[in-house]
Amino acid sequence: MWTLYQHHKGMHYLALGKSLHSETFEPHTVYLALYDNPRNDLWIRPSNMFDDNGGPRGSKRFTPLARIRPLALDESTNVLPFGFDAWGAGRTLNEFVDSYATNKNHLRGQRYVLENLEGAPLATLNTLRFTPELTGLAWLATHPEHRKQGHATLLMFAVMALLRFEQSDMCFALHSEIGIRYYERFGFEKASVDHQHFEKSVAMVASTGQAAAGLDAVLKEFF
Ligand SMILES: CC(C)(COP(=O)(O)OP(=O)(O)OC[C@H]1O[C@@H](n2cnc3c(N)ncnc32)[C@H](O)[C@@H]1OP(=O)(O)O)[C@@H](O)C(=O)NCCC(=O)NCCS
Repeated sequence: MWTLYQHHKGMHYLALGKSLHSETFEPHTVYLALYDNPRNDLWIRPSNMFDDNGGPRGSKRFTPLARIRPLALDESTNVLPFGFDAWGAGRTLNEFVDSYATNKNHLRGQRYVLENLEGAPLATLNTLRFTPELTGLAWLATHPEHRKQGHATLLMFAVMALLRFEQSDMCFALHSEIGIRYYERFGFEKASVDHQHFEKSVAMVASTGQAAAGLDAVLKEFF
């Protein structure tokens, strides 16, 4: 589980954990920038400074906002209703939730959840690790009562940062059913016409350099 913080200047960071300085044994907090920081993505800061009130007028330097964690498959019934209004397709809520018992992407994916500090789930995203360098992102949904507060955006930034922390050249692919504008903020671009296989969604790719091998097959078989 990782805690998401907002720095007093407005930028968001994900704390990965604490580390000891090898010479002084002073604890340091290790954290990832959730935006395109030209200097670096990964930062450390003495933990007493990370936790202090070094913001304006004695406010917190970093304010905890939410937590992110991988979701076990048997916990996902709590978050599946978040997508019912978009993907219910005339079914009852129970029929919709039950349909995931045999849904290939649901079963093979690793879902993440953004929770508030009390542990209530706010937004969820599924990840499909097709190859070591290529991950499909799917099923981004926010609890209908908590939309338009930036939760899906923070979850997307955090999951992409975590996977790129693990694999720096990770390429991401997704099919957007809500147009391309929303996903451009995460570095996604519309894939070339050769990669567009479905009428109801736009294939999009975010890569740090060259698109990953196997991309076309993945985009065809994604649904
Ligand atoms: C799309 C969704 C995940 C956004 O969640 P959220 O937590 O409200 O998102 P945020 O607050 O981080 O960001 C809101 C942005 O999403 C955009 N957005 C939401 N629904 C949208 C839609 N149907 N079409 C286009 N953009 C949409 C908003 O315009 C807003 O953009 P802005 O930041 O430029 O104003 C949420 O509306 C949802 O769960 N929808 C149902 C499932 C779905 O359609 N998922 C996307 C599948 S590709």
